[in-house]
Amino acid sequence: MKQTLKQLQNLKGNTRISMLTAYNCPVARSIEQAGVPIILVGDSVGMVEMGFSSTRDVTMDHMVYHVGAVRRGAPNTHIIGDLPHLSYESVEDAVANAKKLVAAGADSVKLEGPYFDAVKAIVAEGIEVVAHTGLTPQKATSFKKVGKEAAEAEQILQDSVDLQQAGAGMIVLEHIPAELGVKITQALTIPTIGIGAGGDTDGQVLVINDALGIGDYWPPFSKQYAHVTETISQVCAKYRQEVENKQFP
Ligand code: KIV
Repeated sequence: MKQTLKQLQNLKGNTRISMLTAYNCPVARSIEQAGVPIILVGDSVGMVEMGFSSTRDVTMDHMVYHVGAVRRGAPNTHIIGDLPHLSYESVEDAVANAKKLVAAGADSVKLEGPYFDAVKAIVAEGIEVVAHTGLTPQKATSFKKVGKEAAEAEQILQDSVDLQQAGAGMIVLEHIPAELGVKITQALTIPTIGIGAGGDTDGQVLVINDALGIGDYWPPFSKQYAHVTETISQVCAKYRQEVENKQFP
């Protein structure tokens, strides 16, 4: 049964939280059937599904489309809709765009970076917010690990505390040292969800295309549970052969 972010917070310290991204209806249906409690409709869709070289090319229209498709596949799973690049630069935009994602089917929204006023304003409208710190691809100039230097680590920790204080109900920690992941997890009362943040955060998120082995590049901190790209090629080659040889239909 679909849970709110508030309910999911109770898992902290009890059960590790699994989260997968999804962008379309049938994959969302499979994730729901597997009992994964949270689906993130991430702006990673731009890179893993749409052929862009950055998440910065993703628009609100794209996100509304994908949130709707995922909701139709997973009616009973908590869905986080990612606010895309430049959609929350002002508090007014943040609230208006969060409302659009909720209208499309999201239960909560996620934004990247220390946008404390945007978090406060969205929460004040009754919409739950997931924060995202560490590596924040919408603004980052490289995909390298961050927080290796003491001052940068301290800033990420402080931002995490302030995002919780602003009202975030959960926080994604991307590509930071494992020790920093532990430190933030211990400092916060809300669940931390890691991606390249070590094994001791309260939960883990994985991009579904990375998990399935779709594509030709997967981040070192991801895991491939299958190699679907190969399966697709094999199926297509077999199909072509059978059509040419009059074996199908
Ligand atoms: O867009 C996304 O999929 C994300 C995850 C990598 C956390 O933000």
